[in-house]
Parts: sequence; structure tokens; C-alpha cells
Amino acid sequence: MTTNPPSPPRRALDSLRARLASRPPVEAPEVYGKDAIRNVVRALPPLERAYSRARFSILRPKLLSVMDLLLADEGRILDVGCGFGLFAAYFGQTHPRRRIVGIDPDERRIRIARDVSARLGLGAHEFHVGDVRDASLVGPFDGAYVLDVMHHLPEGDQRRVLERLRGLLKPGGVLVVKDITTEPRVGLLFTEVLDRLMVGWREPLAYRHHREWGEMLSGLGFKVRMVRVPDVLPYPHVVIAATKLGA
Ligand SMILES: C[S@@+](CC[C@H](N)C(=O)[O-])C[C@H]1O[C@@H](n2cnc3c(N)ncnc32)[C@H](O)[C@@H]1O
Repeated sequence: MTTNPPSPPRRALDSLRARLASRPPVEAPEVYGKDAIRNVVRALPPLERAYSRARFSILRPKLLSVMDLLLADEGRILDVGCGFGLFAAYFGQTHPRRRIVGIDPDERRIRIARDVSARLGLGAHEFHVGDVRDASLVGPFDGAYVLDVMHHLPEGDQRRVLERLRGLLKPGGVLVVKDITTEPRVGLLFTEVLDRLMVGWREPLAYRHHREWGEMLSGLGFKVRMVRVPDVLPYPHVVIAATKLGA
């Protein structure tokens, strides 16, 4: 008796099953929280170590874990305004199958981000100098995140950037936006003073209320969920998970 060879769709399904079977059924991060942060800090030059400690005291382990769970655990992930690559290095350690692509206009930051990733053995990460508004970025991405960057973009460009990010994501891909909302006012004022110490008084800062971000994202074809994240300091953090609907 002769048997027919499996059809191409059957072969693809068999190969997917084989790949899934070769993986452990449940994966939990081995390196996370303070250990992962310590590794990132140690991989930085001395001056940036101080900055990164301040940054990780704002984006604390619990806040990072919230975002970690929202982000795709593997595949290509875009880090918009990646800076020194602190969070690419963090999220790359918790889920090593992530291939993070960072973009930032600051050449020095990108050089350091590359160096940090190399030191941590995250060789699949890549970093490019560029402005998210016009850099050549090739999708599709399995996920994307924008951590405290949206309010640094001019108000008139913010929607266009989110629209661009939607176009770069796979259907069902999640865009995680961490930003600062505008209430309570005292929290916003506190954050703005600290932001101004970093960027000076000339750069426009364009914060928005979390509901405004939600409406903008849902108008662009995302399903939106968000949480306000309490902090011992008065930062009015908001984390938004926007899932791309449709094609
Ligand atoms: C407050 S820092 C946050 C850096 C990093 N996301 C983090 O959380 O540590 C803002 C970053 O946004 C970057 N940035 C500002 N305008 C940008 C733009 N148009 N496109 C991409 N990145 C931008 C800055 O260079 C800077 O590194």
C-alpha cells in the first residue's frame, strides 16, 4: 500500500507542532527585577550608571513587570526612543527570545545601547539612530513600546506617530505606551519640573490626559486597556496596552 506525502499545509502544521513540543510548556523569567536591573547598571559607563539608577527608581520592578506581561514574549519588538537601551536590556533578559529594535535620534545613546546589549549577550538586539517620525523602519513587529517618549514629541505629531506604529505592527500586536497623565495637577507639575531639569526649558513638552491617549488610539484602530500605576513619589504614571485590530 502506498501513502501520499503530507500536503504543504499539513507539513507546516507538523513543523509548528514539532517546534512547540520542543519548548517547555511554561516559561517563567529566570532573570528579572533587581537582578536584571543590576546587570543593566553594571554594563553602563559610570556617568550613565547614575542616570540609569534614577530611571529604574521611576520605572520600578513592579511597573516593569506589568509591561513585561503585556509585551510579546518573542519576536521583533520596537523600542521607540530607546535612549541608552536600559529597557531593551531589561526586557531582553526576562524573555531572551525577544529581538528588540531600538530607535533614538541621539547617536551617543544608541552607541551605549549597542554596547550594553553586547555586554549582556543580547546579540539579536539592534539599535538605530533615527527619529520615529521619519526613520526607515521595516515591519512587521510583534510588539512595540514607547516609554516616557510620547510627551517629548510635538503635540501635532503624536497622532501621526501612533498611526505609523500601528502600520508597523502585526495584526493582534500590542503597543505598550507608558506615559505621564495630567491629573492630579500636582503630580504633573512634579514630573514636569524633573523633565525640565533633563531637557531644559525650551523643549516643548506635550503631556495628555490618559483618556485622550485612549480615544486617539481607539480612533486609530486599537483595542485599548490602561492602568494607572501608583507610586510612592507623585508621578502620575499610566500604562496603556493598545492591541492592533484588523489587518
Ligand atoms: C525621557 S527619555 C526616555 C528614554 C527611554 N525610553 C527610557 O525610558 O529610559 C526620551 C527619549 O526619547 C528620545 N526621543 C525624543 N524625540 C524622539 C523622536 N522624535 N524619535 C525617537 N526618539 C525620540 C530622546 O532622545 C530620549 O532618549
